[in-house]
Amino acid sequence: MIPGLENTFAKTKEAVVSNQEVSERHEKKEHEWQVHDSSLENFGSSFIKTLPSEYTEELEKKIVTDIREYGEPFVKYIEDTLSSSTNIDRVAIEFGGPGSNLFQGFQKDFFAQTMGVCLDDVRSRDEVTIDNQNHHTLLAGDFVNGPAKELYAQIERTLYGKKVDLILSRMMGPAAALDSNPAIMERIIQKWYSMLNENGLIFAQFEFFEEHKEHLEAQASGIIDPPELMASELHVANWAHEVQKKFPEIEIQYGRGVIRIHKKPGAPDELPPLKEIQE
Ligand SMILES: C[S@@+](CC[C@H](N)C(=O)[O-])C[C@H]1O[C@@H](n2cnc3c(N)ncnc32)[C@H](O)[C@@H]1O
Repeated sequence: MIPGLENTFAKTKEAVVSNQEVSERHEKKEHEWQVHDSSLENFGSSFIKTLPSEYTEELEKKIVTDIREYGEPFVKYIEDTLSSSTNIDRVAIEFGGPGSNLFQGFQKDFFAQTMGVCLDDVRSRDEVTIDNQNHHTLLAGDFVNGPAKELYAQIERTLYGKKVDLILSRMMGPAAALDSNPAIMERIIQKWYSMLNENGLIFAQFEFFEEHKEHLEAQASGIIDPPELMASELHVANWAHEVQKKFPEIEIQYGRGVIRIHKKPGAPDELPPLKEIQE
């Protein structure tokens, strides 16, 4: 427990109500997001701090001139890691976005099936055709407020019960508006972790920071004028510390508002709640 940051039932209830309101406001906004259906490279620039150092040390030595350079180590890390899995029928999901462009950034047919989950499906008929050709499905659903049972049952049916190799989640604006209450975040991460195949990966944004934007100036702002630590970051740091102490086979690395979880061989199939881990 972090002194002064104890979560209570009342705080969680407040967060649930607030998150429902936020999602209702966002429901009919799918066409209005400035950042939408982003490329894999853009995602890479947000998650660069979560990558193992061997993938970023070259980049750190360079004076980077193009944000796309941040995308390369991200793609390479994911492809290298998942290529070592025994299963080649790979599946990937983006939670909080349509994922149509995103998964086209991987080598052709790297994933057998991909999926995007976001509040509304606003694709044109042509975009749906392209997605179908790419074995990509979009489900309209709310993974923060649920109803979780129906959403995950629909995902399971669409994936024919297959486990998932890669989960990406980078909502940007909504991540700033939603209350990242630790009980709510833990429930989501536990569910996603349980969906992963052995050797699977999660990259998730749990808090929005300027440095997640795909401009070099935005990246620099995180170094020149770093914002104060947020309560959610302290909760995540504490959670990661406890999880890794108990399960060293779960590799976790985080940066400001972003986290990578690698379910390495030997890691448990399900993630117990923090309370049980600490007992
Ligand atoms: C700013 S856009 C970002 C889209 C994409 N991830 C990207 O980086 O280009 C925000 C996305 O979050 C989705 N979103 C917001 N709240 C959500 C929720 N509760 N459940 C599912 N998706 C949500 C919206 O539907 C929208 O697609």
